Amino acid sequence: MRALKPQFITVEGGEGVGKTTNIAFIRKWLEQQGLDYVATREPGGTPLAEEIRGLLVNPREEVVDENTELLLMFAARAQHLSQVIRPAMNAGKWVLCDRFTDATYAYQGGGRGMAVEKIAQLETLVQGSLRPDLTLLLDIGVEQGMARASERGAPDRFEQEKLAFFHAVRDCYLARAAAEPRRYRIIDASQPLSQVQSAIGEALEAFVDAIHD
Ligand SMILES: Nc1ncnc2c1ncn2[C@@H]1O[C@H](COP(=O)(O)OP(=O)(O)O)[C@@H](O)[C@H]1O
Ligand SMILES: [Mg+2]
Repeated sequence: MRALKPQFITVEGGEGVGKTTNIAFIRKWLEQQGLDYVATREPGGTPLAEEIRGLLVNPREEVVDENTELLLMFAARAQHLSQVIRPAMNAGKWVLCDRFTDATYAYQGGGRGMAVEKIAQLETLVQGSLRPDLTLLLDIGVEQGMARASERGAPDRFEQEKLAFFHAVRDCYLARAAAEPRRYRIIDASQPLSQVQSAIGEALEAFVDAIHD
């Protein structure tokens, strides 16, 4: 067992980039390192937050106000943080999360065009100073990601958006990664899965080496 301070790792990226697929790989990697961890996802991760996820992603006739969407995202996050993420870290466990607040910046900020300041205010309200320690951004061309996601079946409320929305989401993710290079590792997710996983493995090794110093 390595005695490392518990770390909060998030996996980000647009539709179909391979987040869920690669979370399975990262779980195995954490197990091989003998690290105790909790793997979870957003929006969701608790029964109540998963109900809120349903409210957010299920297609509906009624127009969803952008503030409603933003507040539901952070309502789910508050629940997830208090019931899962903070207790896990307080118990010395690493946390691996399929999407987190970067996705709110990318989707509600980039995609919907909401003001970054609004998102930042809610981020501070709900998270205090808690931020991920490492964010793996899986990056792929929008069309290629959509093609992968479409193989999964009927599109959810976000997947029904137009191409311009997803370009804005991707651009926002890349801009955030460029602005904060110490936290983010950009992984070229267009490669065959074995190469994506090698790149993720290398990023994780480098991250662990850096926190040992
Ligand atoms: N590197 C890859 N090359 C080819 N197909 C992939 C790759 N990574 C994931 N996939 C496939 O793409 C689809 C979407 O992957 P998924 O992990 O569900 O993406 P996400 O969770 O990011 O939306 C799945 O069918 C998955 O098997
Ligand atoms: Mg997924």
